[in-house]
Amino acid sequence: MMEFRTHSAADTAELGRKLGSMLWKGDNVCLIGELGTGKTAFTGGIAKGLGISGYITSPTFTIVNEYEGRLPLYHFDVYRISDVDEMLDTGYYEYIDGDGVTVIEWADLITDILPSERIEVHIRKNEDGSDCRTITMRFIGERPAEYERRLADESACG
Ligand SMILES: Nc1ncnc2c1ncn2[C@@H]1O[C@H](COP(=O)(O)OP(=O)(O)OP(=O)(O)O)[C@@H](O)[C@H]1O
Ligand SMILES: [Mg+2]
Repeated sequence: MMEFRTHSAADTAELGRKLGSMLWKGDNVCLIGELGTGKTAFTGGIAKGLGISGYITSPTFTIVNEYEGRLPLYHFDVYRISDVDEMLDTGYYEYIDGDGVTVIEWADLITDILPSERIEVHIRKNEDGSDCRTITMRFIGERPAEYERRLADESACG
């Protein structure tokens, strides 16, 4: 587990970019945090790390948006899904086992079907209402554990 503190949306995106630049096909990132904590900001950073230029917004009228980069990015926002079937109808399992990177906002709403190997990113606001966010990453599985080592090395080198 790693914990970070960010002080702006740009900071949060930069952390996402670091992670995104390491990711490889089949990797899944699960974002958990209340409304407006910075899940989409973090996803924008991941996109940048995948070589995707342009603005990332939460999919509002669909459940998933697709972007082309060094690898495809499949960006899910499951806030509005009503049940797991609706999720499966999107081709969910093909996405998470697919050729790209899948990012899921509000992953805590679909805990029963989360990929077994995943990077879980928890984002919390500060009590004081400032722009400070506490971001906790859990690396679950063999390849995620490798990313954890690499992120730790990078931080250690400044
Ligand atoms: N440290 C920070 N990290 C991320 N966002 C921040 C931070 N400080 C302030 N913000 C602001 O908080 C908001 C985060 O919006 P964002 O859409 O990324 O949140 P979200 O978690 O995806 O929301 P939703 O639950 O609606 O999908 C933005 O307005 C951003 O500018
Ligand atoms: Mg969002």
